[in-house]
Amino acid sequence: MGRILIVFDTRGGSTREIIQWIKEGANKKGAHVDVRAPDGVTSLDYDLIAIGTPIYNDIPMKSVRDFLRRGDLNNKKIALFVVCPGGVFGMRNLMVRKYLEGLRHASTGVVVKQTSFDSALSPWRKINRKICIEFGQDLASMPYNQPAAIESV
Ligand SMILES: Cc1cc2nc3c(=O)[nH]c(=O)nc-3n(C[C@H](O)[C@H](O)[C@H](O)COP(=O)(O)O)c2cc1C
Repeated sequence: MGRILIVFDTRGGSTREIIQWIKEGANKKGAHVDVRAPDGVTSLDYDLIAIGTPIYNDIPMKSVRDFLRRGDLNNKKIALFVVCPGGVFGMRNLMVRKYLEGLRHASTGVVVKQTSFDSALSPWRKINRKICIEFGQDLASMPYNQPAAIESV
């Protein structure tokens, strides 16, 4: 349950498909989900804000990095994710950990979850879809009325 905002950017479109799956999962659990580009966000009045970016030339997209630094994200609950090859196994991948840690440290919000996904266009697409839907279900099932410990999946 709850209200979730998903903020993302993409160049090639694979992150958009991943977000559709995350939204599908969260909707299944009864959450209200809005999806916006960083410059299209008009309100931060949500229980959770999920923020995702692909990796290009070893860095997350600038629009998303800038969004994370917004002062009004302060005290907001944030879920972070990156999209890049190997993302499905990302938490075992040092580079992916590095990308996520960089975003977490840049964020003014309270990061309660962080993970990675592989490009939706990859050979892992089918596994990826399931993982993304489950992630959306997890987001919608988080306890919103109390501070949550950080969790990496
Ligand atoms: C020019 C270019 C540079 C890239 N650089 C990286 C990189 O440094 N590290 C990485 O893990 N993936 C890299 N990738 C892979 C992208 O992160 C991956 O294709 C991602 O799914 C793109 O997301 P999008 O389609 O939503 O833009 C790169 C892809 C391109 C085309």
